[in-house]
Amino acid sequence: MQTAVTELFGIQHPILNAGMGRVALPEMVAAVCNAGGLGVLGAGSSPPEQTREMIREIRSRTNKPFGANTPLALPNGLENAKVCLEEQIPVINYSMGRGDWICKAAHAYGGKVMASVADQNLALKAQQHGCDAVIAAGYEAAGHSGAVTTFALIPRLAELLDIPVIAAGGISTGASMIAALALGAGGVSMGTRFWTTKEGPMHQGWKEKALELDVSDTLYSAKFDGIPCRQMDVPGARKMMDARMFNVFSVFQHSFQIARELEIPWTRLVIDTMKKGPKEIEGMMRMSQMLKSHSHTLVSGDTSKGFTTVGMSVGMVHDIPTIAELMDRIIAEAQECQANLARNVLG
Ligand SMILES: Cc1cc2nc3c(=O)[nH]c(=O)nc-3n(C[C@H](O)[C@H](O)[C@H](O)COP(=O)(O)O)c2cc1C
Repeated sequence: MQTAVTELFGIQHPILNAGMGRVALPEMVAAVCNAGGLGVLGAGSSPPEQTREMIREIRSRTNKPFGANTPLALPNGLENAKVCLEEQIPVINYSMGRGDWICKAAHAYGGKVMASVADQNLALKAQQHGCDAVIAAGYEAAGHSGAVTTFALIPRLAELLDIPVIAAGGISTGASMIAALALGAGGVSMGTRFWTTKEGPMHQGWKEKALELDVSDTLYSAKFDGIPCRQMDVPGARKMMDARMFNVFSVFQHSFQIARELEIPWTRLVIDTMKKGPKEIEGMMRMSQMLKSHSHTLVSGDTSKGFTTVGMSVGMVHDIPTIAELMDRIIAEAQECQANLARNVLG
């Protein structure tokens, strides 16, 4: 299946895993690449030297093109973008910030850049800033999604932009991939479907929890980290969403652990956060609580505590395959869907 996205990145299938922080790790990235897609590392807020090591590990596991996502507004985000440039990785995916300097530097060594966007204004800016593609996340998506659904957003961006659009949000099967391509996307990026695989680092208990959930079992709120964000509907997430105040004492206590994990001095973490303004400070404090809940899902299968990020597509997740099995299945489903469509259209 050749599309503008397979040509742009030199890959076999127009399928990417979402660059999920602390979840899309080298094992997952290499498995996606080796199965013919574009694996994307979730650098998240990882310490820059850890990001460098992860990039090198991916290179030791695959010789195929790969990418890395770095959310520029988060601690270590800018530093991680610089590491990706120094390591001359094939594809850089930035989110939450302006990336014209990344495009310029990546293009100088032949790299490609894609921005993650959730509306048409951000998408147009990304194109102006020199991006080679955008990943557009509709309302259905896990994490920070926009207010417009994938079904409305993708055709509008396909109409507006000259660069390829990669659809995200609500996609987990070959049929949903074909639907996205029919709407004008050149490829798809999936988060929820990829973390519920054998290679996903979440505790088995959370993967099994995902199998129980339906398309309506997510929560969407700005209370998680200050920006509208979709999370799994479990008691831990409801508790955070329903709380009138977040626990400042717990945030203070947790800030030391965050500074340690990010390998940045505690005072720098506090000063950088303070500089951002009251709304952002509240957002960062909320995010620190959310990250604590997410950390729990990596080490414990107790789903009565903590929560994690999922999109509405979780309702279509019914098993925990390997990534190679999943990729084969999605391609087979896509071919079957195309054949069925042709039959239906012909009556
Ligand atoms: C566990 C998890 C972690 C995520 N972390 C990030 C991240 O670090 N950076 C980012 O730009 N998007 C992140 N996302 C959002 C995805 O990039 C993507 O928009 C979303 O997963 C698409 O919806 P889907 O889950 O229905 O496929 C995350 C998603 C999940 C499920």
